Amino acid sequence: MDNISIALDGPAGAGKSTIAKIIAKRKNLTYIDTGAMYRAIALKILREGIDIDKEESIQKVLSASSIDLEGNDIFLDGQLVTEEIRTPKVNNFVSHVARIPLVRMKMVELQRSIAANKNVIMDGRDIGTYVIPNATYKFYLTASIEERAKRRFIELRDKGFDTTIEIVKEEIKNRDKIDIEREFAPLRKAEDAIEIDTTGKSIEDVVEEILNYMK
Ligand code: CDP
Ligand code: CDP
Repeated sequence: MDNISIALDGPAGAGKSTIAKIIAKRKNLTYIDTGAMYRAIALKILREGIDIDKEESIQKVLSASSIDLEGNDIFLDGQLVTEEIRTPKVNNFVSHVARIPLVRMKMVELQRSIAANKNVIMDGRDIGTYVIPNATYKFYLTASIEERAKRRFIELRDKGFDTTIEIVKEEIKNRDKIDIEREFAPLRKAEDAIEIDTTGKSIEDVVEEILNYMK
């Protein structure tokens, strides 16, 4: 039997990772959080103060780094960074790193190798359009900017970050803009993806909607 692959794309705060984790559990699929991979390399670049305009430096950091996904955790050079990759500092920086073609090529290679011969659900920005264009199912999740900002604000506040909905909204808007406008594999709905607007919908509503499409 062929492997099953599910591509889940959409902008920040649309609910991709929450939904992907639940569907992975229910359908016994391997969850691949591609955003976490871009976040991890962005974290390393920040830590080392690397100039992202220098191709040589990018090449060097890519070949000297290891990124491993284990369940819902992520390790950078063997160190657990699941929490640290979700700070406002990384939020504000990650899209600048993710627009660099060298970085994307390396991450996509890694994503495809993790997915090989497995039943997977992968979430990100370019999964249905670029990483697995022949995915069994493709979904594109959206929600209004107000709702996405509110969801993210609540998460950050609960983790103890001092922020406001307005600040979070600006951060998300900037990140969406960079992700949509970049040249190499931008954020875009695949033509054959099913679009689901999650505004006003509960997590369970969205999970059910996706599972219904898969029946
Ligand atoms: O969870 P959230 O939507 O806030 O972000 P994420 O999925 O963790 O992705 C963080 C950033 O990584 C995005 O804003 C993109 O710049 C980049 N990314 C990407 O370019 N391509 C992907 N497949 C996944 C993430
Ligand atoms: O991965 P992505 O950035 O698309 O979003 P997420 O991290 O899965 O979801 C952001 C937040 O919104 C999480 O705290 C979810 O619990 C929440 N959420 C929600 O309240 N209602 C939904 N229908 C989906 C997500």
